[in-house]
Amino acid sequence: MNILILQGSPRANGNTAWMAETYRKAAEAAGHKVTLVDVAHKKIAGCMACEYCHGKGNGDCVQKDDMQALYPLLAEAEVLVLAAPIYYFTLSAQIQAPLQRIYSMNKPGKLRKTALLLSSYSPNVYDGAIGEYRGIVHYWGVEDTGIVTAKIDEQKTDAKRDCVIGLVEKL
Ligand SMILES: Cc1cc2nc3c(=O)[nH]c(=O)nc-3n(C[C@H](O)[C@H](O)[C@H](O)COP(=O)(O)O)c2cc1C
Repeated sequence: MNILILQGSPRANGNTAWMAETYRKAAEAAGHKVTLVDVAHKKIAGCMACEYCHGKGNGDCVQKDDMQALYPLLAEAEVLVLAAPIYYFTLSAQIQAPLQRIYSMNKPGKLRKTALLLSSYSPNVYDGAIGEYRGIVHYWGVEDTGIVTAKIDEQKTDAKRDCVIGLVEKL
């Protein structure tokens, strides 16, 4: 399958990047085509709600930032993996911006499956992020292949590597 992973932590050696890379390696080993985009180091602004995309723009976003390179990848993706740290009990701003900019497409056209990878310091801080994720999955009518969370003492462990690989096996 054609898989797009969005990595939304600014920490290049953090746990989110590690989970995203673990997913990428496992998916490539299983024969999938994978693109991993480090959206945390892209210039992607929030949606301006100008509605250009739903009018004159005919699906195109008026904002010409790094999101423009992501739209063709989203259009081709059959699987979307969101990898993000928890910031103040929800998804990081770095992943919220590209996620909300999908508004111009409404739904990525070929998308069938999704997964969510979350990192945090504390336990029991995932409800906001998971609620948002489940809402979007339901709205798009796609299949959630699963969620892996890792609090501080679980990060970069063999057990979590196995959990991430387990998501790939569900594709
Ligand atoms: C701005 C900010 C807000 C955070 N808010 C939370 C939080 O609400 N709950 C929590 O458990 N950890 C919180 N953390 C900690 C991160 O979620 C944690 O360090 C996580 O491992 C970061 O992922 P990373 O290693 O991929 O960068 C926060 C960190 C930052 C920088």
